[in-house]
Amino acid sequence: MDLAALQRTAVKAAFQGAVELRNHFGKLDTVTKKGRIDLVTQADLASEAKIIAVIRSHYPDHDVLAEESGASGGGNSAANLVRWVIDPLDGTTNYAHGLPIFAISIAVEVDTEALVGVVLNPNGGELFSAIKAHGALLNDRPIRVSRTDAVSESLLITGFPYEWGDQRTAIIERFSRCVDSARGIRRLGAAALDLCYVAAGRADAYWEAGLKPWDSAAGALIAREAGAMVTDFSGREYTDRCSELLASNSHIHTEMLSLLQIAKETR
Ligand code: IPD
Ligand code: CA
Repeated sequence: MDLAALQRTAVKAAFQGAVELRNHFGKLDTVTKKGRIDLVTQADLASEAKIIAVIRSHYPDHDVLAEESGASGGGNSAANLVRWVIDPLDGTTNYAHGLPIFAISIAVEVDTEALVGVVLNPNGGELFSAIKAHGALLNDRPIRVSRTDAVSESLLITGFPYEWGDQRTAIIERFSRCVDSARGIRRLGAAALDLCYVAAGRADAYWEAGLKPWDSAAGALIAREAGAMVTDFSGREYTDRCSELLASNSHIHTEMLSLLQIAKETR
């Protein structure tokens, strides 16, 4: 499989989506609710349509899983099942409020494993990318995780799901423990960028529960390729079917796991 060709298409699609995000930014006239809080805008829909059109023009047989339109099949008669996992606008709430922290995230999975990942921040002009076993790049420069080896000297990032359900106590408890232990915590509002910031050494760890495959598929590959450990809160290897994600520079992973593991009775 030509992973470099898949990556070129992912980059082309991301830049096409970004044109739509730039066009609508600050000019939205309709914002719809998908859930109690979860939003969808014309920008999400326009970006997703452009991205899928680019992918289909190169790979009409491949499967697609996209946040707004869901799963669509290309037929995939090949031996290896290829699926494009797309978030056309990660950070929709920021975007809808005119806060310029958002991204496009595209991963290519082969037989359920992400082998190519691209995350584009159209504002900063930052393109994060990775091909499995080839390292991670920010634009054309290799990136690496930080070397910080204590949570007390770490900058952490977290995020919160739209629906907290019965996880409320655990979410607050984890946040409270990390606030007490770390140098600082940020909640930026775009999971794909959060993962890339760990990859680039701008933050030392990021955790969140309740992510969807399109939030994490590309960013988790980019983080791993930059040297990050990416697991669930029990230390098992993260896949985009897990509901919990901890990505760290690896040096503080054990300490982070002990902060995030909540006794069952307090959940
Ligand atoms: C959301 C963002 C946010 C995270 C949520 C995600 P969306 O994605 O990544 O940071 O906390 O869990 O759902 O809705 O903006 O694409
Ligand atoms: Ca989204």
